[in-house]
Amino acid sequence: MRELALHILDLVQNAIEAQASRVELCINEDCAKDVLTIRVLDNGRGMSEEMVRTVRDPFVTTRFTRRIGLGLALLDMSTARSGGSVEIESEPGRGTKITASYQYSHFDRPPLGNMAATIQTLITLNPQLDFSYHHIVMKRAFSVETRELAAAIGDIPFTHPEIIEWLKEYLAAGIANLYGGEQFEDC
Ligand SMILES: Nc1ncnc2c1ncn2[C@@H]1O[C@H](COP(=O)(O)OP(=O)(O)OP(=O)(O)O)[C@@H](O)[C@H]1O
Ligand SMILES: [Mg+2]
Repeated sequence: MRELALHILDLVQNAIEAQASRVELCINEDCAKDVLTIRVLDNGRGMSEEMVRTVRDPFVTTRFTRRIGLGLALLDMSTARSGGSVEIESEPGRGTKITASYQYSHFDRPPLGNMAATIQTLITLNPQLDFSYHHIVMKRAFSVETRELAAAIGDIPFTHPEIIEWLKEYLAAGIANLYGGEQFEDC
């Protein structure tokens, strides 16, 4: 996939399909250590040991609509091509943690893509999901908790057009702020 945002959408979609009620997404861009990691943690149904061992195979899926599941196979290929790897930890009945790492400066590492639009889409399309987004770029961090947003907006739903617009701007400003200033001097 051309952008990491598409892998992120797939990972969160997998968690939702596994009946997760809470999903935590953490992105850490550490250019001093030359590593970019994406971690998605969920409290869904989890996977057996056998499933964890075989799940990167494109023919392993629990989908009913088609016999191939490409998400994790593509993520595995994309990290391997960029000097990284995918680690999968899962426990049936408890949840799953998937960590994808990339060599930050690798020529083949795809760009993150539009994270503000990606996070806004995830929140708007899954208004019931307890979703947490934590994004670190060197020494700066930006976080969003849908629980806190929901408490702040009261009865107004996440799908309200004005909330969507506000969320887009809030996310775009928060994420843009991660990349400003002199913090990239070491990179
Ligand atoms: N977070 C998760 N919790 C539980 N099971 C998961 C999780 N992520 C993946 N799986 C299992 O691994 C299978 C393969 O996932 P993968 O993303 O590779 O393909 P898919 O979601 O089935 O299809 P596609 O991604 O192409 O739409 C899923 O069908 C599901 O059974
Ligand atoms: Mg998938």
